[in-house]
Amino acid sequence: MEHHPNIEVYRSTKDLEQNAAKRIVLIINKAIRERGNCFIALSGGETPRPVYHLLGTPPMKDQVDWSCVHLFFSDERIVPSTDIQSNYGMVDRELISHIDIPRKNVHRIEVEKKPELAAAEYERELREIVSDVVRFDLVLLGIGGDGHTASIFPETAIVEEKKAFAFAVFVPHLNSWRVTLTFRSINNAREVLFLVSGKEKAPIVQRVLKSPKPRKEIPATMVQPVEGNLLWMIDRDAAGENEKL
Ligand code: 6PG
Repeated sequence: MEHHPNIEVYRSTKDLEQNAAKRIVLIINKAIRERGNCFIALSGGETPRPVYHLLGTPPMKDQVDWSCVHLFFSDERIVPSTDIQSNYGMVDRELISHIDIPRKNVHRIEVEKKPELAAAEYERELREIVSDVVRFDLVLLGIGGDGHTASIFPETAIVEEKKAFAFAVFVPHLNSWRVTLTFRSINNAREVLFLVSGKEKAPIVQRVLKSPKPRKEIPATMVQPVEGNLLWMIDRDAAGENEKL
């Protein structure tokens, strides 16, 4: 297995979570130092939850001037924010409700609207707040066993979407609507960070590592920041037998 410069393997999940939270604080503070603010898109799912908890707890919560940070979401399930499936709900419980961030800086996807309207509204906000080219300082991503990332699933039209920065997509096997960032906004970011843990992810991590070039059957391989850094932070379980990555 050739060396992968953009993969860091951590001895334990806890170690991964601690280092991921520290890395996020560094990226946020660098953006604030350089540009006075920070635009970050947070991924959903279970993997990042402990990282958000660390960011919302001392000492890390006190290491960031949250009034300079704008929180967006890499994707959202079209369910009420109170639903256990809601990414916004999870981030609110673990992070937002514990930090001094102005409400106007939290850009939730308006799940009360029809998915296409929610996506159009989110796109407008992305262009207006982040910039007309939607260049995030950091996009956080996870990966599903099927190679999806954000809510870009294999063999869906959105894999090829080139124009929109955000899109509504119905996911048949989940029987649910999602709104997600597209690769256009993801690959425009200054930093893209994949957080992956657990042995159930080892097979897909291997498939991604063995796919040197982007493959639409494995959407996560299409995350190739145009002018930005890509980093995979994974634990040993997710690295599988290639712990010496
Ligand atoms: C979502 C995420 C999704 C997630 C992967 C991994 O809203 O579900 O954006 O892309 O990152 O499905 O999820 P886990 O971290 O729960 O394994």
